[in-house]
Amino acid sequence: MSNCKVIALTNQKGGVGKTTTAVNLGVALAQQGRKVLLIDADAQANLTMSLGYSRPDDLPDTLSTIMQDIIDDKPVDVSRSILHHDEGVDLLPSNIELSGLEVRLINAISRESVLKTCINEVKKNYDTVLVDCMPSLGMLTINALAAADSVVIPTQPHYLSAKGLELLLRSVSKVKRQINPHLRIDGILMTMVMMWYKKS
Ligand SMILES: Nc1ncnc2c1ncn2[C@@H]1O[C@H](COP(=O)(O)OP(=O)(O)OP(=O)(O)O)[C@@H](O)[C@H]1O
Ligand SMILES: [Mg+2]
Repeated sequence: MSNCKVIALTNQKGGVGKTTTAVNLGVALAQQGRKVLLIDADAQANLTMSLGYSRPDDLPDTLSTIMQDIIDDKPVDVSRSILHHDEGVDLLPSNIELSGLEVRLINAISRESVLKTCINEVKKNYDTVLVDCMPSLGMLTINALAAADSVVIPTQPHYLSAKGLELLLRSVSKVKRQINPHLRIDGILMTMVMMWYKKS
């Protein structure tokens, strides 16, 4: 049995630091000697760009091509699409094609488990897989929750961000009940916190 831990970085609220957390946590774990795969599960391709691939639309093989092959029941070679970064992390990149794929997922058989099938192909090679989710609770995020062992929820300490968490926590509970009973919440990670100290 694989010891790999799959962690989804999820929050349907945009701009809360999911991608920044994925990059920094991934590189920090790699520096500690862990084998890390980062998966860009967002059509904005911010994670792919953050790692220096500035023209993701030029990449021939991405998460969407693999997921499409899985939907079409074709044989897949996930490792062929993985990029090896100088910082010691591997990346399964994405590009804008992922938004079209999310629409096609709706009619796919096993539509919740396509990403899990993809991750299962390569997880034996890694200690940690981090999935950077898009800011929505759509099918791709459900796929990430279905594939994950646990969730980290980056959030800003704002009123509306906290209100949005209620919806997210309900979705996580639903996925846990209906699809992935082993799913755990590792924690809510406060991002972009300003510490103010009173001068004495
Ligand atoms: N600790 C921080 N201090 C200052 N700026 C930050 C910090 N963390 C992230 N940012 C900036 O905030 C913006 C949003 O961060 P990021 O892209 O990681 O969020 P996200 O949740 O992935 O966004 P999206 O929902 O669009 O995917 C980026 O411009 C990023 O550089
Ligand atoms: Mg992001």
